[in-house]
Amino acid sequence: MPDTILVTGGAGFIGSNLVRYILAERDEHVINLDGLTYAGNLESLADVQGHPRYEFLHADICKPEQYTEAIGRADSVLHLAAESHVDRSIHDPSAFLNTNVIGTQMLLDSWRRKENPGRFVYVSTDEVYGDLPLEPKSLKFTESTPLTPNSPYAVSKTGGDMLARAYHHTYGINTCITRCSNNFGPYQFPEKVIPLFVNNLIEGKQVPLYGDGSNVRDWLHVLDHAEAICRVLDAGKPGEAYNIGGNNERSNLELTRMLIDLCGREESSIKPVEDRLGHDRRYAIDASKIKNELGWEPTRSAWPGALEATVQWYKDNRAWCDHVRSGEYRRFHAQNYGTAT
Ligand code: NAD
Ligand code: TYD
Repeated sequence: MPDTILVTGGAGFIGSNLVRYILAERDEHVINLDGLTYAGNLESLADVQGHPRYEFLHADICKPEQYTEAIGRADSVLHLAAESHVDRSIHDPSAFLNTNVIGTQMLLDSWRRKENPGRFVYVSTDEVYGDLPLEPKSLKFTESTPLTPNSPYAVSKTGGDMLARAYHHTYGINTCITRCSNNFGPYQFPEKVIPLFVNNLIEGKQVPLYGDGSNVRDWLHVLDHAEAICRVLDAGKPGEAYNIGGNNERSNLELTRMLIDLCGREESSIKPVEDRLGHDRRYAIDASKIKNELGWEPTRSAWPGALEATVQWYKDNRAWCDHVRSGEYRRFHAQNYGTAT
């Protein structure tokens, strides 16, 4: 019998790519546990619905009674379920603290109460480190950089991250933590900068660039991320954190100009708007630990090729984008899973 991996948040952007990656590249059975918030979209996994090693469980990580049975059957957990959008956390932090801190604690508690709990990977973020100055470029986040999160989102992720660490230290649970940079690729909810801008540009609309566009992000292809999470699942040292990055730092202005070019639009498509409150200046990952200890490096993240392929995916999948923006994907949930969301 193959092992069973419980993936939380598998109907989200990274989770759906990760579930598809595991089914294609590995032999485990996958339970996708997802609460189907606005960000959960089972249309992103329509191609694996009915796969013999895949099942969906509609559950909220804050309600352990909804997933006790799944915990009992799982050999390991990849925990991605979270509220994930910084702007929403600035508007209202409460759901972030509830899901990302309390929900993570409840999931960890369910896991530690089972017999012989196996590996539990907490998918954290580079945003737990706060931000970096634009110069010097050699300055990057390492796993020993102090955690100084700046946004309510980042604080809530740091809470989950520290809980995963503490459950190893206190209870001896086999946890690992991954801290990755900004992901890009197919099936990303169009509130995040790349799919938002691509959708607008395809439709000839302007794109809202925050501040002066000089903020820098380190872009990682979502399948590189999926591969790295699996590497940590297989070989990470219990209690350790691993940075995951794309070696691909770009300013938002540079990103925006590349997207404009790929969509055949003009510089006048840029609409400078008021900056995000507390906007982190720069994220940059030193991923030498995972390279040296686990032999992982990104192979799918290089631009312009990987960005061009991503833009092409959004051009080719207008129905997926339209269904997300119209809310049609919720009808898909009701029709295929009987879940009203
Ligand atoms: P996403 O918002 O696309 O997906 C989150 C998923 O979690 C959704 O399917 C949602 O329905 C589910 N969910 C939310 N609350 C839940 C709850 N209470 N119970 C069960 N399910 C719930 O997010 P994403 O971009 O795929 O990010 C996945 C993880 O990776 C998150 O933990 C995020 O913090 C982390 N991360 C993301 C990025 C990025 O660039 N997207 C970068 C670093 C880390
Ligand atoms: P986002 O995709 O929200 O990811 P994160 O905040 O986790 O890095 O934003 C990426 C960058 O793009 C960030 O510096 C903010 C900027 N941005 C804009 O300029 N305009 C937008 O409309 C959005 C959503 C983001």
